Amino acid sequence: MKGVILAGGSGSRLLPMTKVTNKHLLPVYDKPMIYYPLQTLMNMGIKQIMIVSGKGHAGHFLELLGSGKEFGSKFTFEIQEEAGGIAQALDLAEDFADNEPIAVILGDNIFEDDFKHAASDFKEGAKIFIKKVSDPTRFGVAEIKGDKIASIEEKPKNPKSNYCVTGLYMYDSDVFDIIKTLKPSERGELEITDVNNYYIKKGKMSFATVSGFWSDAGTVKSLYRASTLVKEKLEINK
Ligand code: DAU
Repeated sequence: MKGVILAGGSGSRLLPMTKVTNKHLLPVYDKPMIYYPLQTLMNMGIKQIMIVSGKGHAGHFLELLGSGKEFGSKFTFEIQEEAGGIAQALDLAEDFADNEPIAVILGDNIFEDDFKHAASDFKEGAKIFIKKVSDPTRFGVAEIKGDKIASIEEKPKNPKSNYCVTGLYMYDSDVFDIIKTLKPSERGELEITDVNNYYIKKGKMSFATVSGFWSDAGTVKSLYRASTLVKEKLEINK
């Protein structure tokens, strides 16, 4: 399986920290943010990884990560010209994916869990990973009926559950055809939630629950929280 890290977007919620650098290059405790999603993919046994970033600081990603040799991997870089949404960024990985299933992770998502088995078991359709949170209105929220996900709502005012859809996804190669049918949302973005709802409607979505800690790091509070969680984890393991 190949992997894609989506590290475009504007990072506006972290201004002024993101005025002269990219959100995913900011530190989460002891490492640049992007090292964490990278590690999550590498722990899944993925060795070919594409990094999609915005135009502004693309050279910095290249300088930081290089060819991938240092990480025992092979990195490919792609540019998202404008922050047109997560699904738009993913669409840039079509040639790289080359009709094979892919794992996609958002560049600001910090996971403790190891998803190795999920990767080796994945064959077709799509798979998402959900986590109970106290502030679901900030996220994509899963409506669960029985043992199935009935729908996902992006940043709902009245969430139907406390289960947030985290930023790790697995897709078969149909994902690129699905993205091409999408229309921009009210916030002007091609939404990954619309991609996921498409798979749900077709009965091709599976899911698993995240048991270890998880946080995004895209707001000042969540960045601080992610750093604190990583610090605590490192201290426990000392
Ligand atoms: O963190 C999980 C959440 O991420 C999900 O629950 C939501 O369903 C999903 O829409 C997303 O929500 P956010 O509003 O937090 O997404 P954000 O705009 O912060 O983008 C998250 C990452 O996606 C960002 O770190 C880089 C990448 N991205 C985002 C945009 C808008 C891109 O690569 N290109 C983009 O145009």
